[in-house]
Amino acid sequence: MIVTSELIWQDQQHQVLFELIDEIKADHVDLSTFTRLIDYAEHHFSLEESYMQMLGYPDYDAHLQAHNKFRSELLTMLDDQGDYDVELRTTLSDFLTEWLKRHIYGVDKKLEVFIMQSERK
Ligand SMILES: [Fe+2]
Ligand SMILES: [Fe+2]
Repeated sequence: MIVTSELIWQDQQHQVLFELIDEIKADHVDLSTFTRLIDYAEHHFSLEESYMQMLGYPDYDAHLQAHNKFRSELLTMLDDQGDYDVELRTTLSDFLTEWLKRHIYGVDKKLEVFIMQSERK
């Protein structure tokens, strides 16, 4: 794995996640909108988890739990999405956006600092 000095992959992937979450509240949404979001979230979470394992990150368990909570929220949406009207999808989208913001400025920020410090050792 390549660790870039400013950890650009993490920021870029968060940006894509925000865009995909935003798509949920668009006029025409089908199953593929949800599966793209779920697949991309999985790709991103797995990558962060690989780094944590590789570097022996001390807060791995708590961070993994937070990812798992998000994973299960997304899967719940997938189960029910056929019945969602735009109002409900907007509520969901806003909820996921807020969750992601808190996650990024909290535990992800700590992880970013840790990865960058590990790289300099
Ligand atoms: Fe994370
Ligand atoms: Fe993240």
